[in-house]
Amino acid sequence: MSKPIYVLSGPNLNLLGVREPEIYGKATLEDVRRLCEARAKALGRTIEFRQSNHEGELIDWIQEARTKASALVINPAGYGHTSVAILDALKAANIPVVECHLSNPAAREEFRRHTYVSLAANGLVSGFGAASYELAVEAAAGLSA
Ligand code: DQA
Repeated sequence: MSKPIYVLSGPNLNLLGVREPEIYGKATLEDVRRLCEARAKALGRTIEFRQSNHEGELIDWIQEARTKASALVINPAGYGHTSVAILDALKAANIPVVECHLSNPAAREEFRRHTYVSLAANGLVSGFGAASYELAVEAAAGLSA
């Protein structure tokens, strides 16, 4: 049995479904969790799905993933645009990393066009709403055993 794929979500994503639904969609984080679990199950894999509003907690989980996960999907939310510390943790993780965004940050404000996480990610899925997470789980499964 392979190790789980960690699926981590950053700040404000606990408000999915009510937060700017015209940008992020109507699915709640619980809906996203179910979609990820179903996609992982179909691929014979499991996930560990977590969300935090705190940078340090996300870093602790990335460090945990280093030994406990087969791969990591991360939607860093706003921290993607600001956090060198999350980038450093991802670089140390030594497992495949897939960056994921519900919206397409490249088509939004200028400050969203750069993410530090991209420097450590094998690839990026963005712009497909909740389906971005499903696609990211599939990509992470393909990159790991
Ligand atoms: C986001 C995009 C980020 O720019 C934003 O700060 C978020 C969500 C997304 O999933 O589209 O909080 O990561």
